[in-house]
This record gives sequence, C-alpha cells and structure tokens, in this order.
Amino acid sequence: MFKNKNVVVTGASGGIGKAIAEMFIQNGATVAISDLSSPDATAREIGAIAFACDVSKEADVIAFLEAAEEAMGPVDVFVANAGVGFGDPKHAAGASNDDWELSWQVNVMGAVYGARALLPKMQARGEGRIVITASAAGLLSQIGSSSYTATKHAAVGLAESIAIRHWDQGIRTHCICPQYVRTNMTKGMAMAEGHQDGLLEPADVADALKIAIEEERFLVLSHPIVGEYFKQKAMDYEGYISGMNKLKQKLGAEQLPNSKPK
Ligand SMILES: NC(=O)c1ccc[n+]([C@@H]2O[C@H](COP(=O)([O-])OP(=O)(O)OC[C@H]3O[C@@H](n4cnc5c(N)ncnc54)[C@H](O)[C@@H]3O)[C@@H](O)[C@H]2O)c1
Repeated sequence: MFKNKNVVVTGASGGIGKAIAEMFIQNGATVAISDLSSPDATAREIGAIAFACDVSKEADVIAFLEAAEEAMGPVDVFVANAGVGFGDPKHAAGASNDDWELSWQVNVMGAVYGARALLPKMQARGEGRIVITASAAGLLSQIGSSSYTATKHAAVGLAESIAIRHWDQGIRTHCICPQYVRTNMTKGMAMAEGHQDGLLEPADVADALKIAIEEERFLVLSHPIVGEYFKQKAMDYEGYISGMNKLKQKLGAEQLPNSKPK
C-alpha cells in the first residue's frame, strides 16, 4: 500500500511512533525514524534508518528531514509523533513555565517545524501526507494536566488548519486522538492502567491510522468511544464539565498525573 513511499516519524524510539513506523514498513514504505537520541536499536529491529532529532528545535527538524531526504528521496509522509506530558502539582495552573514551554515546543511546534519545511515541497508535487499524533486530550481533557490538554487542543487545531488549507492540493492530513495506550508515557499511571475504556497497544493505534488513510479520513479514533464523548461534549458542554469534575473526584488526587512522565 505504501510501496515506494518515504515516511519520517519523530519520537519513534518506542511506543506509538515505533508501531506507526513498523506499520508503514510492513506495507512497503521506506522509513526514517528519529528521537532525542538516535533510535539505532529500534531502527535495526524494524528495518528503518535512524537519526537524532530534538523536535523542539527547528534546526534539528530541518536537519533530520534533509538527512532523511538525502538517504531516501522526497518525504511523502511526515508523522509528528513526539510528545511530552507533565502533571499539575496542587492545582490546574501548578505546572512550571518550563513544563508549559516544553509542552508547547514538542507537542505543537515540533509539528509546525516539520510542516513548514515540507508543505512547500508537497504543494509543488501536488501530494503528500501529514500525520499528527495529538490525543483524546485534544478533543476532551487530560484530568490533572492542563499543559497537555491545552497543547494537544492546539495540535488538533494545527492539524485541522493544515487539512482545511491543503486537502484540495492533494495533501492529506490525519489527526490521531487515542485515549490510553500502553507505552512509556502511561507506565505506572493508575488512571491509564485501570481505565474503563481499556488500554490499547501501540499497534492498535497504527492499525487505526492505516484504516483512516485507506478511507481518507482526517480523524483517527483508535478508541471509537472518543468520538461519542466528543459529540456529547459539543451537544452539552455544561454536562461535560460537571461530568469530568465528578470523574476527577472519583479518581482522587493520588491517581492524577502529578509528576513528570517517565
Ligand atoms: N500513550 C498514550 O496513552 C497516548 C495517548 C494519546 C496520545 N499519545 C501521544 O502519542 C505520542 C507518542 O507517545 P507514546 O505514548 O508512544 O509515549 P513514548 O514516551 O513512548 O513516546 C514519546 C516519544 O517522544 C520522544 N520525545 C520527547 N521529547 C522529544 C523531543 N523534544 N524531540 C524528539 N522526541 C521527543 C520521547 O523520547 C519518546 O520516545 C505522543 O505525542 C503522546 O502525547 C499517547
């Protein structure tokens, strides 16, 4: 399905990024993966090529894309997957400015930097694909992390903007909005491990992306229930806020992500 396609994935040393890279490779693509340090072992395991790239730095993203193009040829698919999340100690504005800034840089600007470098080339070719791993927190909320919720909402807004501006130019955009998935990010997080809607495996998210690409759908809902919650939120925002507040009370402080993710 992706034969002769060149794919780049950020934040792909493990978790969802690795699963997405594997999915593309299994379907015929050539894939370059990156992470804060070069994910060489992962690349060897799945048959990708590896680069170091800190997505919070535009120069790094540009250098990664140039090196990937040098090795593979023009990038057909850019997957902005790197992400960070920080809890809110004490109250909803309790996270430090540094945590807010890094969340903004990684969860939003990392995708902007990639899109900025690639969109002109995709426009010139009249094709291309941009995938942003946002979160269900970008449509709903991550209780206990305002910075994650706000920056993932921004990531959804960015994905929407790219889709609206460029769909007619042959550039497809997909926005992935999972609930909890078994990765380093959710390791030891009680609210994820015991979640009523289930803890998916990274490969489930990659499969959902593949289906969305086949069906040319923007929104990738690996947990379909998220679509129902999103509809309910739009129809009854007051009910949504009071329902989420009740859920927060039920979870109790000890379950909220009050510390930095592993
Ligand atoms: N696990 C979940 O439940 C879940 C749910 C919804 C969305 N997500 C999103 O999925 C994406 C992948 O996360 P994951 O769950 O696989 O966790 P993960 O921790 O395994 O993957 C995140 C990766 O991003 C990398 N990263 C962090 N900062 C970076 C930076 N500045 N530059 C480059 N790479 C950086 C990390 O090193 C890590 O490899 C993230 O965007 C996350 O927000 C995860």
